[in-house]
Amino acid sequence: MTQHDWPVAIIGSGNIGTDLMIKILRSDGPLRVAAVVGVDPDSDGLARARSLGVPTTAGGVDGLLSMPQFGDIRLAFDATSAAAHRANWAALQPTGVRMLDLTPAAVGPYCVPVVNLDEHLDLGNLNMVTCGGQSTVPIVASVAAHGVVSYAEVVSAISSKSAGPGTRASIDEFIETTSAALVSVGGAQRSKTVMILNPADPPVLMRNTVYCLVDGDADHGAIRSSIADMVARVNAYVPGYRLTQGVQFETFSPENPLYIPETGKFIGIRVTVMLEVAGAGDYLPTYAGNLDIMTSAALATAEHIARQTAGATS
Ligand SMILES: NC(=O)c1ccc[n+]([C@@H]2O[C@H](COP(=O)([O-])OP(=O)(O)OC[C@H]3O[C@@H](n4cnc5c(N)ncnc54)[C@H](O)[C@@H]3O)[C@@H](O)[C@H]2O)c1
Repeated sequence: MTQHDWPVAIIGSGNIGTDLMIKILRSDGPLRVAAVVGVDPDSDGLARARSLGVPTTAGGVDGLLSMPQFGDIRLAFDATSAAAHRANWAALQPTGVRMLDLTPAAVGPYCVPVVNLDEHLDLGNLNMVTCGGQSTVPIVASVAAHGVVSYAEVVSAISSKSAGPGTRASIDEFIETTSAALVSVGGAQRSKTVMILNPADPPVLMRNTVYCLVDGDADHGAIRSSIADMVARVNAYVPGYRLTQGVQFETFSPENPLYIPETGKFIGIRVTVMLEVAGAGDYLPTYAGNLDIMTSAALATAEHIARQTAGATS
C-alpha cells in the first residue's frame, strides 16, 4: 500500500494525542492524520495541528461526526480519558469506524504489540493498556515463557509534568488495567501495580521496576536472554527503552522460603528487572518516555491494521 493513504482521527489533543500526531506525521507509513479532535479550542494540541495543516474540531466526537472528512476515516485513536472513551465509543461504534484506545478504559481486549499483536485484530475496539503496561507486560511475558510466574508486581514512575488531566482522571483504571494485562497478556497468575507521579524538577525519566516470582527451579540464563530479546524487540519502536542494570535473581529454597501473607510459603526465584524509558522528545522532552512507549505501540498497531486491511481488500 502507498504512504499516507489510510486516514485516521485522533480524539484528545493533550500530551498523548499531540505526541501521536507528530509521530504519524513523521512516519513514512500508511497513516494520514485526517482530523484532530479536542474540546478546548485554545489547547496547544489543536493549535499545533492547525499550524501543521491538519483539520481540527473543538467539538468533541460530535464535531468529528459532522466534519466533511469523517466519511474517509478508517480508525480513530482515543487519547482522552477512560470516562470520555466510553462515551466516544458509544458514539462511534454504530458508524463502523474502529477505535484504538490509548486510555485505560479497557472496553476492548488488550494489545501489547510485541506480545499479542495479531490477536483480536478483527475487533472494532482494541485497548493499548497503559504506559506502565506497555513497558512491563513484555518483561513478564518473557519471564513467563520460561517458568510459572505466580506473582508479578510492577512499580511505574513517571514525571508529574507528563501526566495531563486525562491521565489524572484515569488513575484507578490505570491500576486496574495494568494489573489485568499483566495476567491476561503477561501470563502471571496474580499481579499488583503501583503508580508514582514524581514531582521532581527537573523532571525524571520514566522508570519501571518489575518483580516476578517464578515457582520452583527455573533456568536463569534462559530468563536473562529472553528478557534481553524482548528489550531488543521493544527497542525496534522505542529506542530509549533499556535496562538500567543486569537482571537480578534471588532464590528461595525450602530451607529459606519467602513468606507471602496471601498465599503462604513461596519456594522459587524472584526476578527483578529495572527499566527506564527515554522518549524521542517529539512533543514533551525526552524524560517523557511514557508518552513514546504508548504512542509508538499504538502507531505500530494501527500501521499493522492498515496493512492487514489493505491486504484483505486488494
Ligand atoms: N501521559 C501519559 O504518560 C500517558 C501514557 C499512556 C496513556 N495515557 C492515557 O492517555 C490519555 C490522555 O492522557 P494525557 O496525559 O495526554 O492527558 P491530557 O489531559 O494532556 O489530554 C487529554 C486531552 O483530551 C481532551 N479531551 C477530554 N475529553 C474529551 C472529549 N470528550 N473529546 C475530545 N477531547 C477530549 C482534553 O481537552 C485534553 O486535551 C489518558 O487516558 C491517559 O491515561 C497517558
